[in-house]
Amino acid sequence: EKGGYDHFMLKEIYEQPRAILDTYRGRLRADQGIVKMAGIDEHLEKFMNANRVIIVACGTSWHAGLVAEYIFEDLARIPVEVEYASEFRYRNPVITDKDVLIAISQSGETADTLAAIKLAKDKGAFVFGVCNVVGSSIARETHAGAYTHAGPEIGVASTKAFTTQITVLTLIALKLAKEKGEVSESNFHQFLTELETIPSKVEKALESNPLVEIISDVYKDSTNCLYLGRGYNFPVALEGALKLKEISYIHAEGYPAAEMKHGPIALIDDQMPVFVIATKKGHYEKVVSNIQEIKSRKGKIIAIVTEGDEQVTELADHVIEVPETYESLTPLLTTIPLQLLSYHIAVMRGCNVDQPRNLAKSVTVE
Ligand code: M6R
Repeated sequence: EKGGYDHFMLKEIYEQPRAILDTYRGRLRADQGIVKMAGIDEHLEKFMNANRVIIVACGTSWHAGLVAEYIFEDLARIPVEVEYASEFRYRNPVITDKDVLIAISQSGETADTLAAIKLAKDKGAFVFGVCNVVGSSIARETHAGAYTHAGPEIGVASTKAFTTQITVLTLIALKLAKEKGEVSESNFHQFLTELETIPSKVEKALESNPLVEIISDVYKDSTNCLYLGRGYNFPVALEGALKLKEISYIHAEGYPAAEMKHGPIALIDDQMPVFVIATKKGHYEKVVSNIQEIKSRKGKIIAIVTEGDEQVTELADHVIEVPETYESLTPLLTTIPLQLLSYHIAVMRGCNVDQPRNLAKSVTVE
């Protein structure tokens, strides 16, 4: 059932090229220059007339929501707010019938997310679900939705659900960008074509596995780790830290790289591994100077870089390369080595990778 892998988590990490393909298969028609999604097509006016989009989710799904915020605002020019479902539901939020709420949930059973949906519906918002489990409570409770088609995710640590959620949300953003006239026909077409290269680029990113295993061995006994990223890769830093915490029980924190000097930099010494997402596009020079700041305080730098990188490679203690792609698609690649890293560290520490202590796959109580 684990398909020859030692753990479901590793199997699911390796399923990502396929899962991403399954997510856009039948929806993305690069040759015809269209994105087909029934849940959007049938309610297009709700999205076109929306004042804003509110995304609610928990955990990893909330991180996918943060990536979506960048994509929606950047491509489709629609204002987005991303909320923890648990906070949103209890703070008497201002919601109107001009709002579209997108709920993201792998299981479709998360209690707080479900409650947030009910609240938004009561206030007249249009509610759209992005779920993996077909027929789940959230899928049934929403007005419309799009499934991720990642296939069953058994490992408690969410992996392929995350990348397929980002894939679905990217398709939605692109579709809306096109409808709103925010992208030219040719840019839209190029974007779809680039999206089609992602499964093979994820495959390539997975080839870093032996190197990631070596790096994991170096840092497996750390007690604290920092994860830094900017822009589209800030949520990836949060996600990398969450993965490490939940399965290896090492304290880790994710930060937008520029926030370092507002506090966390005080933590850095020669015992502190800092994982930095430093891909070529997206504030590369700024990340390079953040790396220099860490280096001058003797922190250990493990950087995720674009293939062929030279500048960061010279500064970092270790680099892990991922293929080049559009900046907005980099989270689909940069997240891969971070998943592998937390996996190997957890295995090396003798942790129960698929069923970490104190955690459940679906959190059906608040
Ligand atoms: O099923 P959901 O996507 O609603 O679950 C949300 C979180 O409970 C979930 O992502 C959790 O954070 C994962 N264990 C993270 O790996």
